Amino acid sequence: MDALIERAAKDITSAKYVAALTGAGISVESGIPPFRGKGGVWEKIDPSYAEINRFMRDPADVWRVLIKEMKDLIDRAKPNNGHKGLAKLEEMGILKTVITQNVDGLHQMAGNTDVIEFHGSFARLQCMMCDKTCHSREVDLSEIPPRCECGGIYRPDIIFFGEIIPPETLRRSGDIASQCDVMLVVGTSAIVQPAATMPIIAKQSGAKVIEINPERTPLTGSISDYLIMGKAGEVMNGIISVISDR
Ligand code: APR
Repeated sequence: MDALIERAAKDITSAKYVAALTGAGISVESGIPPFRGKGGVWEKIDPSYAEINRFMRDPADVWRVLIKEMKDLIDRAKPNNGHKGLAKLEEMGILKTVITQNVDGLHQMAGNTDVIEFHGSFARLQCMMCDKTCHSREVDLSEIPPRCECGGIYRPDIIFFGEIIPPETLRRSGDIASQCDVMLVVGTSAIVQPAATMPIIAKQSGAKVIEINPERTPLTGSISDYLIMGKAGEVMNGIISVISDR
């Protein structure tokens, strides 16, 4: 692993434009479970709870079973060394943009300023009746489902399965993927589309793709140049300390 960390530090510092694509795995060390695999959310909760049709049919049920539980975990979570490492890379002038599939806001909390929230964010709610948006902190979540003053039910500003990614989000992410010369792919199983296409676009445009994940993914050995097998926090710490010592 040390040799790969050295290699990543070298690739990152010699790049002109580094971008990152992150997934649930980067927040595992902050106490938020991933979706897939051991201990994942989908082991406990049927993934159909994340489908827009199910939410529209019975928002109260989806709020109770999925959203409230995830929101409580997210509200308690703090950025870990994985998030902090990416923030440090931005501070060093190396990393430009984080494209994240996470809805937990931890990259911004760690200090990254250009974060594309590919699947939206739990930080914002939108009334399904009058379209008013607000910060979820301003809403009383002890009553489920939470309601706007117009009586409408609030939905979280996240992308459910069956919803499209906002075109501007998709366009900007695609542009970044095709322009970067290194893409760090951290803590994603890389199976949910279209997010998983970003490393493919990066690779096809000539970028190096570096994966950080304790497990192999469909990108490993084909799209990614190499996989640093380990936890995001530990690996990012390693990379930052090699770069700082140079
Ligand atoms: N550090 C880095 N990676 C980790 C860690 C860790 N400490 N722990 C687990 N992982 C890896 C797993 O090996 C797995 O590859 O994180 C990945 C998590 O995969 P998923 O749970 O599938 O998360 P993600 O890729 O973000 O899912 C994409 O699916 O359900 C939807 O909308 C949801 O945005 C989510 C999307």
